[in-house]
Amino acid sequence: MKVKFVIPLLIILWLSKKITSLPPESRGLDRRSFPDNFVFGTAASAFQYEGATSEGGKSPSIWDYFSHTFPERTNMQNGDVAVDFYHRYKNDIKLMKELDMDAFRFSISWARLIPSGKVKDGVNKEGVKFYNALIDELIANGIQPSMSLYHWDHPQALEDEYGGFLSPQMIEDFRDFSRVCFEEFGDRVRMWTTINEPYIITVAGYDTGNKAVGRCSKWVNSQCQAGDSATEPYIASHHLLLAHAAAVQEFRKCNKTSQDGQIGIVLSPLWFEPYSTSPEDNEAVKRALAIELDWHLDPVIHGDYPEILKKQLGNRLPSFTAEQSKMLKNSSDFIGLNYYTGRYIAHLPYVDPARPRFNTDQQLEWRVTNHSNHQIGPEEDRGILYSVPEGLRKVLNYIKDRYNNPTVYIKENGINDYDDGTKSREEILNDTFRIKYHEDHLQQLQKAIM
Ligand SMILES: *[C@@H]1O[C@H](CO)[C@@H](O)[C@H](O)[C@H]1NC(C)=O
Ligand SMILES: *[C@@H]1O[C@H](CO)[C@@H](O)[C@H](O)[C@H]1NC(C)=O
Ligand SMILES: *[C@@H]1O[C@H](CO)[C@@H](O)[C@H](O)[C@H]1NC(C)=O
Ligand SMILES: *[C@@H]1O[C@H](CO)[C@@H](O)[C@H](O)[C@H]1NC(C)=O
Repeated sequence: MKVKFVIPLLIILWLSKKITSLPPESRGLDRRSFPDNFVFGTAASAFQYEGATSEGGKSPSIWDYFSHTFPERTNMQNGDVAVDFYHRYKNDIKLMKELDMDAFRFSISWARLIPSGKVKDGVNKEGVKFYNALIDELIANGIQPSMSLYHWDHPQALEDEYGGFLSPQMIEDFRDFSRVCFEEFGDRVRMWTTINEPYIITVAGYDTGNKAVGRCSKWVNSQCQAGDSATEPYIASHHLLLAHAAAVQEFRKCNKTSQDGQIGIVLSPLWFEPYSTSPEDNEAVKRALAIELDWHLDPVIHGDYPEILKKQLGNRLPSFTAEQSKMLKNSSDFIGLNYYTGRYIAHLPYVDPARPRFNTDQQLEWRVTNHSNHQIGPEEDRGILYSVPEGLRKVLNYIKDRYNNPTVYIKENGINDYDDGTKSREEILNDTFRIKYHEDHLQQLQKAIM
């Protein structure tokens, strides 16, 4: 298994420092347990950490618009300040260095670089300056910059003008945006990703409507202003995939990046186990993996959607022209993987044919416990995340077997800080669950590459 690069969330970095405080059976797992060319780093995304959403010439992104227009849909939170990285990046980079990080994966805010969304309207010099300063500061501290082009936050202007990723116009605007990034930053940034988690973007943005752009069928979620959960997730993903391919075309043409740079898409599969031993549940697991992973992975490797989805979805799944298919084929130098958790999958026997939607198209249900009431893994405080470390190894092996052993980079893994305001500093720092989570996942990762 060619896994070369690990970028988990920040706290993993403690592992190298805290290794002596781990339980005796886990001692001995450290950097030397991995090949020399393994890269350990941290990851973040522009909307989640930059703040300064209306400073430096930046226009509102879809997340600024969504969180300000429908605050009740984002728990009254927005990204106006976030962790104020825009102003504090030098200090944050110092922390990364103290933690002995090799790399930092961050995303560029399209709305900061090109406020109207369209290159012909002009590139924001202050935006270029900020990302140049960030990249230079990282390099000066011995940290490799790894840039994501799209982490969910295109300019709202493009949404207003033509509906963002529902329109093929988005492919060309994304192409132009990406070309500017390669030309401005490609001399120093070697590692690039195109689209981060297309599955989450389209399912949460167009089927359930609980993330920006917040569209869905009215009967799915009455908070949605408009949308169609039966068709839009597939259309938006189609355009995201083509936007990815267009960016890769530009990347491979660009003098600055063509030499030793690498570019790829980032997917976010869970691992799935059958709810019971029934053939129906076993088949359902195959469908779950097909939609979670193969939906976006088959196109960037083979140039087309998986047969199983084409057959099942008919004309709700858009199709690629011969030219588009050629552009998509072999368009990812590596497969980027964000892995967090796993679930049991049960076959869902009945779906109302009058109400099709993405969520039930695969006729499956996610479960936390299996038929003999065994829980998929230990549960983190909030019951959101279950630690399923062996799922990481299994998903890596699934990719290896199904896609002829491509290079895989793990781009995210980890658990959020849990702080509801009631815990003391000591309690927050004593995050034994998280330390064990990372420890277990690294152990499974090590097994996978042996
Ligand atoms: C960039 O590539 C183009 C076409 O491949 C070539 O004409 C041009 O000279 C190159 N520029 C540099 C600076 O290498
Ligand atoms: C549930 O999971 C446990 C642990 O993996 C396993 O031993 C058991 O056989 C599973 N039950 C079913 C019905 O698959
Ligand atoms: C895939 O693309 C890469 C980068 O352009 C190239 O080096 C490689 O030969 C291609 N592989 C195939 C099978 O076309
Ligand atoms: C840290 O947390 C663990 C597990 O929750 C607990 O057993 C231990 O006593 C805690 N240690 C301290 C110093 O609070």
